[in-house]
Amino acid sequence: MPYAHVTGWGMSVPHKVMTNDDLSKIVDTNDKWIREHSGIHERHIASEGETSASLGAAAAFNALGMAGILPTDLDLIICSTSTPEHIFPATACLIQDKLGASNAGAFDLSAACTGFIFALNMAAQSIRTGSAKSILVIGTETLSRFVDWTDRNTCILFGDGAGAFVVQANEKPGGIMGAVMHSDGSGGEFLSIPAGGSAQPASEVTVNAGLHFIHMNGREVFRFATRVMVQATLEAAKKSHWETEEISLIIPHQANLRIIDAAARGLKFPLEKFMINLEKYGNTSTASIPIATVEAFNQKKLKAGDKVILVGFGAGLTWGSLALEWSGPLPSTHYIKADWFKPWARLRSFLLRILRIFEGFLSRNES
Ligand code: UT7
Repeated sequence: MPYAHVTGWGMSVPHKVMTNDDLSKIVDTNDKWIREHSGIHERHIASEGETSASLGAAAAFNALGMAGILPTDLDLIICSTSTPEHIFPATACLIQDKLGASNAGAFDLSAACTGFIFALNMAAQSIRTGSAKSILVIGTETLSRFVDWTDRNTCILFGDGAGAFVVQANEKPGGIMGAVMHSDGSGGEFLSIPAGGSAQPASEVTVNAGLHFIHMNGREVFRFATRVMVQATLEAAKKSHWETEEISLIIPHQANLRIIDAAARGLKFPLEKFMINLEKYGNTSTASIPIATVEAFNQKKLKAGDKVILVGFGAGLTWGSLALEWSGPLPSTHYIKADWFKPWARLRSFLLRILRIFEGFLSRNES
């Protein structure tokens, strides 16, 4: 049975930075409160033209370049997002088109902030069963488009960004060793966007009531998060037959420094064993774990053979954890610079659209 190795990783965040002081000019808050209650100093906010698909594609190109494979080598693209471009088509398909990944099936996965862990686990299962060899897993969010910028309980927390992993089959032992996935829909109302789906389609009433914005019971989510982080970490380690002392790094969902601190105390681990970068990005939901992984690698906190736990929680409620034996890039078949592929992908998409118009014209003439 092949092992599922993470062979490439990449991230992308919008250029625009919004500091706590910037926020204090639009809502009744201040830098001190935000730092003390969440640990966040600033976040990146998408500008016009930056979307979940554009950030996701940029992160994906970086991950492909790191893995040294072409978009056409991909069999599957799984995009985890809670801020898709549309209800349908899937954001994964828009990214597939931007990459020119002509041989890949593509679908979205919705498990909120835990989504990247669920998606990675699905990718690993597809590789173990032999149904795919090279998979792109993306976590991407433009939460700023769904935040009520008059609600200080939520708008201070979230940021935009994307991260991506390439997961590939290899006979060498290592990579994704085990994962746990949990859900509890009875807590769904604690964190939601109430309207815009089939239960409450968009109407003047839903818009006026602010039901298309993120609604959150912060205290309930906090209580839930501190309960499940430790439990999920231990479960994934146990499933992978790891002793807790063997874990070299924990990469948690970057929601709140106090939640990570509580997890560290619960596990009796020093805080240094946790990758933390939420001060720069805020909570980027499903993108937070891959972004933190990229930065952990850049800060030389990851080396081949390290036993790493990714752990997250979020709306649903969902929570989960994944044990990853860090592979480092494995020898790739060919070297590519992902940027070279962008014009080709754009041309491919353009030609496909022209071809479709041409085919439509011909079929009208035939009938
Ligand atoms: O990916 C999952 C996403 N969600 C989360 O992870 C959220 C988890 N929850 C949290 O991170 C925390 O609950 C928050 C950061 C959201 C809030 O921190 P808290 O320590 O639980 O604050 P609180 O809601 O208990 O509010 C304490 C006080 C309240 O004032 P009173 O009622 O004590 O007078 C709030 O009105 O702080 C006030 N407050 C603020 N003050 C200044 C709430 N938000 C703000 C603010 N600035 N932005």
